[in-house]
Amino acid sequence: MCGIVGYIGEKSALGILLDGLTNLEYRGYDSAGIAVNVEGKVELYKAEGKLQNLKDLTNEKREHILKSTIGIGHIRWATHGSPTAVNAHPHSCNCGRVAIVHNGIIENYKELRAKLEKQGCTFRSQTDTETVAHLVASKYAQTNNLTEAVRLATKEIEGAYALAVIHQDVKNTIVATRRNAPLLVGIGEGEYYVASDVPAIIKYTKRAMYLDDNQIVTLTSNSMKLIDSDNNELVPKIETLPWEPVALSKMGYKHFMLKEIHEQPDVVRNVLSGKLRASNENIVLNEVKLDKEALKTLNRIQIVACGTSLHAAMVGKYIIEDLCGIPVDVEPSSEYIYRKTVGDKNTLVIGVSQSGETADTITAVRQAKSRGSHVLIVTNRPDSTMAREADSLVPVSAGIEVSVAATKSYMAQVISFYLLAIHIAEIKESASRSELEKIKRELILLPQKLEKTLSHKDEVKTCAKKFANSKDFIFIARGINFPTALEGALKLKEISYINATGYTAGELKHGPIAMLDESMPVLSILMKGKVYDKILSNSEEAKARNARMIALTDSDDTKLDELFECIIRIPEVDEMLSPALAIVSLQLLAYYIAEFLGKDVDQPRNLAKSVTVE
Ligand code: F6R
Repeated sequence: MCGIVGYIGEKSALGILLDGLTNLEYRGYDSAGIAVNVEGKVELYKAEGKLQNLKDLTNEKREHILKSTIGIGHIRWATHGSPTAVNAHPHSCNCGRVAIVHNGIIENYKELRAKLEKQGCTFRSQTDTETVAHLVASKYAQTNNLTEAVRLATKEIEGAYALAVIHQDVKNTIVATRRNAPLLVGIGEGEYYVASDVPAIIKYTKRAMYLDDNQIVTLTSNSMKLIDSDNNELVPKIETLPWEPVALSKMGYKHFMLKEIHEQPDVVRNVLSGKLRASNENIVLNEVKLDKEALKTLNRIQIVACGTSLHAAMVGKYIIEDLCGIPVDVEPSSEYIYRKTVGDKNTLVIGVSQSGETADTITAVRQAKSRGSHVLIVTNRPDSTMAREADSLVPVSAGIEVSVAATKSYMAQVISFYLLAIHIAEIKESASRSELEKIKRELILLPQKLEKTLSHKDEVKTCAKKFANSKDFIFIARGINFPTALEGALKLKEISYINATGYTAGELKHGPIAMLDESMPVLSILMKGKVYDKILSNSEEAKARNARMIALTDSDDTKLDELFECIIRIPEVDEMLSPALAIVSLQLLAYYIAEFLGKDVDQPRNLAKSVTVE
C-alpha cells in the first residue's frame, strides 16, 4: 500500500530513488513521484500510471535532476483521490518549500484540511496527505526547526503513517517518522536511506534501523538522531538485514510469479531445514515460546489472516484439528477486529501474514494480545511489525516475494502449519508416533513431487489455452482441499480478472448448480482419499448439467477420461499433504490463462501486495 523511499548523502539521489521505487512497485503502481533539492530549490516530479512514466519524465531533465544528492520518492496505491499526477506524492505546501511522501491514511484529514484552509492554505489535491504538508509547513513557520515541525504535526494527526519530509530551507536533512506503517533507515558510509521495505535499499546497504511507532528520525549525510514523540533522545538499534539482493531478479523467467512458482520445491526444503531433521526425530521450532505445559493446556486456537494467507490458515485448521484435537477457528482479520471475540490465556492466536504488515491482521493480533492470549505469527518477514510484536514466531523463509499474487509464501505457510501441528501433537501425544512419522516422511518427499508437478506444466498450459476465454470458473473440492479450491479461484481472479469461485463440492447442488451450462468450466480437485468418490459423483452431477469439466487429480484411473475434457495429473500424495501439491497446478493454470489473455501478471490492476491500510 504505497511505498516511500529517501536518500541523503554524497551520491546523486535520482537513480537511487528510482531504483528504490522499482523494488517497491509491488506496494502500488498507479502513480509515482519524487522530490529533490537542486541547487537550493525543492522540485517535484510526478507522473500518473506505472513507474516507467516517472522514469520517462525525469529522463527529460536528467542532467539537471542528477545534481541533487537528497531526495524522497513515492509509489502510490490510491486511497483518497483518484490516481492522477496531481494526487501523486510528494505533496507540498503553499510556498512549495516542504515536500512530503506518505504511506497510510490520515483519518482526521477533513477536519485538518478545513482548519488549514481557514489559515490560508490552498489545497491542490484530493489526498489526505496534502494536509500533512501544510501542517508541517505551518509548524516550521512557528519553530524554524524541521524535526520539531514534524513532531508537532504528528501530535495533530490521527491514523496511520510512514512519512519522509524535506524542506528547502534545511538543505541537508530528511525527517522521517511512522505510526502503524512500516519504515526503516538504511545506513551507508556518509549516507542514509529511508524506505517502507528492505527491497528498496538492500542493493546499497545491509545495515539498518527499524523505526518503532511514534519515533522520529532526523538524517543528514553524516548523522542520525532518533527521538520519541516527547522529544527524548533514543539510542538507535542497528541490525544487519538478512536479505540478498539477488532475490529481486527474475532469473530468466518472464514474470516474477512464474519464477516464484518454480522456487517452491526449494522453499519447502528451506522451511523444513533445521526443523524437520528426520522422520523419527521431533520437530524443532525454537521460536515457538509456548512451553510444554502451555501447549498441553491449550483449549482453543484462533487463526486470523487475509486473502491467500487466510486460505493457508484454513488448511492449517484441518491439520491442527486432525493431529492435535484442538478446536480451531479461522477468521478474516477484518471481521475479527469488529466483534467481541472470546479467548484467554489458554487460547493461542495465530496471525498468518506474508508481509507481517497487513493492517487488519496487525490490529487483530494486538487485540488478542491485549486480551491475554499468546500470539504466534507465521510470516515470511521476521523483521516485520507483526513478528517484532509477537510472543512466538514461525518464520516461513520463502525469500522475498515480488509478484503481487502470492504463491511461494502460501506454500511456505502451509508447510509451517504441518510443522506446527506435528510439534503440538508430539508434545500433547494427540496422534500416534507412526502417523506423525508417516506425515514427516511425506513432507521430506514433497520437494521432489513438486519438481515432478512443475515438470508437467505443458498439460496445464494446454488446459489454460482451452479455457482462457471463459467468463466464469468454478472450483470444487471437499475436506482439506476446499481451501485449495478457494486459493485456486483467488489466483485466477487476481491475475486474469475472470470471475472464479471455490465451492465445497457438496454445496454445489444447494444453489450454484443453477449456473451450470455448456459455457461454465468446473474444475474438480480430485485427490485420492476419504472424499474422492464423493467429489467424483459431484463432478458427474455437474457434467449432467453440461458443464465443461476439468480434473486436477493424483489418480491414474483412465475412466476419468470420459468425464473430464481436460485432466491435470500430479504425483500421488498422502491426502493430508495434498493441498501443498495440488495448489501448484492451479497457480500455473491461473498464470498461463493470464498470460494468454495478455494481462499484467506481476502487477494486476487495483491490487497491492502489502495492504497496510484497513
Ligand atoms: C493474494 C495476496 C493477498 C494477500 C493478502 C494478505 O495473492 O497476495 O490476498 O494474501 O493481502 O497479505 P499478507 O499475507 O501479507 O498479510
